[in-house]
Amino acid sequence: MTNTNKSNPERPIRWLVTLGPTHEPIDQVRFIGNRSSGRMGFEIAKAAKESGAQVRILAGPCSLPKIDSWTDVARFQTAADLRKLLTTDWPNFDVLVMAAAVADWRVVGAPLVGKIRRDATPPVLQLEPVAEIVGNLQTRHNQFVVGFALEPKDEVIANARQKLLVKKVDCIVANSLETLEGAQSDARIVWGDGRILTHGESSEFAAKSKVARWIVKAVSPSITQKCRDR
Ligand code: CTP
Repeated sequence: MTNTNKSNPERPIRWLVTLGPTHEPIDQVRFIGNRSSGRMGFEIAKAAKESGAQVRILAGPCSLPKIDSWTDVARFQTAADLRKLLTTDWPNFDVLVMAAAVADWRVVGAPLVGKIRRDATPPVLQLEPVAEIVGNLQTRHNQFVVGFALEPKDEVIANARQKLLVKKVDCIVANSLETLEGAQSDARIVWGDGRILTHGESSEFAAKSKVARWIVKAVSPSITQKCRDR
């Protein structure tokens, strides 16, 4: 008889990687979105898989080729869709990489039916905040969460530290705004004990694929430690 609750440090670590933007609808054609390409999350998923992990991707509306041919992938459009997927999936995983760029506001009462016409009176959109997702997830003591922060260059570290506390994550991958849509990243990893890791001598820009491999390697010892009784 198998016991599914029994801890098993021999099985691969299971990573759940969210990536890409959310689109919050206005009407059936238009949405509020952001410029996230999803590329950094996808590179991290690939690097984690290369390291022997089992990886499921939750992908927002981004146009990265190859996403849909990933072995285990689900798609979301809105923050509400993502929250629902995470509520179901997160209990079954060890590591969450929360790279999704969740919209900050949604339109009250959306989606409006049909398509608002150009010659109609321009609509006045009433917005409401999108609730925090990662900071409100139920997380066990043996699960590890990597948050992300996208910040103006001179505020990256201070704001990442703030987000680390508010979102109750194990570490934050902090990027400057310049990384948006690009193929390069200047990511640093900010830890709760005050450490800040850079991928090279300094936090210069490097290919996202290279930075992603560094991130996976840098967080792995802490994951092995925290998830040892998985
Ligand atoms: N995040 C989340 N739920 C939200 C907004 C963001 O879980 N409603 C997560 C993101 O996936 C990311 C982290 O929180 O891991 C930081 O996201 P970011 O957009 O940098 O910060 P915000 O919390 O949205 O704050 P602000 O936009 O004011 O910087």
